[in-house]
Amino acid sequence: MTDYDDIVKQIAGCTRCSLSERRTRTVPGAGSTSADIMFIGEAPGYNEDQQGLPFVGAAGNVLTDLLAGIGLRRSDVYITNMVKCRPNNNRDPLSSELEACSTYMDAQIGLINPKVIVTLGRFSFGKFFPGRSISRERGKPRSWRGRMIYPMYHPAATLHNPRLRPALENDFRNLLPLVEEVIAMPPDADVADEEKPPEQQMSLF
Ligand code: URA
Repeated sequence: MTDYDDIVKQIAGCTRCSLSERRTRTVPGAGSTSADIMFIGEAPGYNEDQQGLPFVGAAGNVLTDLLAGIGLRRSDVYITNMVKCRPNNNRDPLSSELEACSTYMDAQIGLINPKVIVTLGRFSFGKFFPGRSISRERGKPRSWRGRMIYPMYHPAATLHNPRLRPALENDFRNLLPLVEEVIAMPPDADVADEEKPPEQQMSLF
């Protein structure tokens, strides 16, 4: 069994929070486990809970379209959520549920080791940069513990508010150049982190 299979197995048997009581299936994540890009959403919805796969409902169609728009397939990236079980009625995940699932999220980040983590919406952005406004910070890559975090609106937000779609499309267009820039950085580059003032951070866009 690979280390990744082991994480999936642990998630499948997880009872760390009460979301485990009502789930149909756990939704660990999908895609390439050696991807340069990891997308982190919020939580599974109805379709995800039924299929055990992330982003397979309406918001998933938006994500798949946006990926196709920059020439990527879902299998080129890794897609997961902050919590791996569906909250009832698609309510927001509680901080206790986010906390309970964070071990799995951290293990996935460590194992997959993506160059760029795209946070979709406020819950995943909040894991890395708590308390910051997504509408102000979206589209601005920031480093976090030696990794690049690239915050974007959640695809579902564009279903409720189509005026957000151009911003999301724009952020997707900048994604591959960002990955290239991170790959081109020398291995010992001193990646500025969130403790430093913004002007000392990488000047990307
Ligand atoms: N589907 C998911 O898998 N995650 C979300 O955040 C929303 C829909």
